[in-house]
Amino acid sequence: MPLSQSMRTHTCGELRPGQIGQRVRLAGWVHRRRDHGHLTFLDVRDRYGLTQVVTSAQQSPAAHADADPVRSEWVIAVGGVVRERPAGTANPDLATGAIEVAVDELEVLNPSRVPPFYVNEEQEGLDEAHRLRYRYIDLRRPQMQSQMLLRARLASSIRRRLEADAFVEIETPSLIRSTPEGARDFIVPSRLQPGRFYALPQSPQVLKQLLMVAGYDRYYQLARCFRDEDLRGDRQPEFTQLDLEMSFVSERDVMETVERIVLDVTRDTLPDRPILATPIPRLTYDQAIARYGSDKPDIRFGMELVDVTDAVRDTAFRVFSDAIVSGGAVLALRAAGCAGYSRRELDELQDVARANGAGGLVHLAVEADGTLRGPAARFLDVAAGGMIEATEAEPGDLLLMVADADRPRAAGAIGRLRLEMGNRLGLRDPNTLAYVWVHRFPMFTWDAALARWDATHNPFSAPVWEEADRLESDPGSVHAQQYDIVLNGWELGGGSIRIHRREVLERAFRLMGHTTERMRDEFGALLEALEYGAPPHGGIAIGLDRWAALFADQENIREVMAFPKTQSGSDLLMGAPSPVTDVQLEEVGLRLVDAAAR
Ligand code: AMO
Repeated sequence: MPLSQSMRTHTCGELRPGQIGQRVRLAGWVHRRRDHGHLTFLDVRDRYGLTQVVTSAQQSPAAHADADPVRSEWVIAVGGVVRERPAGTANPDLATGAIEVAVDELEVLNPSRVPPFYVNEEQEGLDEAHRLRYRYIDLRRPQMQSQMLLRARLASSIRRRLEADAFVEIETPSLIRSTPEGARDFIVPSRLQPGRFYALPQSPQVLKQLLMVAGYDRYYQLARCFRDEDLRGDRQPEFTQLDLEMSFVSERDVMETVERIVLDVTRDTLPDRPILATPIPRLTYDQAIARYGSDKPDIRFGMELVDVTDAVRDTAFRVFSDAIVSGGAVLALRAAGCAGYSRRELDELQDVARANGAGGLVHLAVEADGTLRGPAARFLDVAAGGMIEATEAEPGDLLLMVADADRPRAAGAIGRLRLEMGNRLGLRDPNTLAYVWVHRFPMFTWDAALARWDATHNPFSAPVWEEADRLESDPGSVHAQQYDIVLNGWELGGGSIRIHRREVLERAFRLMGHTTERMRDEFGALLEALEYGAPPHGGIAIGLDRWAALFADQENIREVMAFPKTQSGSDLLMGAPSPVTDVQLEEVGLRLVDAAAR
């Protein structure tokens, strides 16, 4: 790529044997320095690559002297002639490894303090806080650069693909009125109207629905969203969604359109990575829970859950019989070839089960003669045949079982054990991309603490239309026209067909305990808009940070964000959040209660 600039004629990733004999100028950071007395070798780095440049005391004494103080991460510009590297010194691992530049001009554009950590080699156990504090140096590391560039390629591919499909990009504001997406809002005080606050959008949900009412038909945006919630590896307080919405569509239309986009963008961004299955498999929520114990199943490997409730129904084992009598279930996992697991390994699995809601974990090894071995084996004798048949276990296998009066809790715990076993047995192939759709979620979940139904996704999701007449009589049996797209066990995105008629939306809100007054207050604009010709519509939002992290094989989305926050929501580089002055507080009409906290 020709750079038309005066400080350099080429990038540091560009020169090849074809340029031997040419005079060039390069600029960049000193990646590494090697002194051979009369020769100084500098690897000069920019985001395009690395080029070796050489100064010689004999041939270019001035440049050689200028190179003397230069150290790692100094910014320099050099001028010289491209030449073939001497026989035996070519570096086949480097794109520019066949050549070097014999330098006769060297200018220090800016020296650097000794960097707080190495850019030129991976440092094991490098403290993340340190990396975030000096993020501009961390971002120079070739690995971070390749991750950021991958993210940029992903975003660019998304834009091209959506525009080819008639989606229009429309920006929505960041200072809005609160829209509920289940997290807390970040709020911004108003100076012009003291005592009043904006909220930062948890998502552009209501705005994109208003754009459908406005007739834009296919909208998209790489939208910044803000949620004040507890942070995890896949969650940041500020993140980006590929947000889109479509009009005159059914659930099937949205899923098919999004599927084509997702697959095209994946193949475009990562042409060499295998996609496990296309078309993308679809599971109902019930199937996902029954087979994988999770509504975000990692389908890169099998090891599906087996319901052994019937097989163990008549045993004298209290743990099982109590759960079954209370209407629960006994769920099992067959870990092939793991009969020899040590006490310690079994204890670790026990801990995983407990940490995920199980009261305990029953483990049984299948012996060569087909009998079962384990602390509970003698109580389960009569059920051995049934369990082996149900799980298709073979000698040498290990059966892991969780019983619970609450079936979903048993499924959740054993689902986590499945992932744990997938890790231990190396079944989660990092190279494969396994997309799966999960849909037909229950429309409402019962909130026992508040004694009311709550929307499983967002309150605007439409019921499966044929089930809508049960909204009041049997809300628990109604499913939503809602779909999640899952990648390698992460929830990548979620969306739904929306309720586009005011009276249906009001019915759904009422079920969720909203009074008419509260509905008007919180959702007035949307409710009113639905009365002015709202077309049927639906959409989805895909987490861009998660998508990029999965593409880059990173377990934390911080690794694909330029300036992320720490677990406690701090920006260590700029020092946010920070106190503000009394004047600033006064301007917005605020006074801190606990002045000492400042
Ligand atoms: P939802 O809340 O499911 O749906 O969010 C959609 C996707 O956004 C990503 N995501 C996050 N990524 C990083 N950090 C976070 N804190 C975070 N929270 C969510 C996830 C998630 O799947 N308005 C609806 C979408 C719709 O119905 O169209 C919404 O926001 O990848």
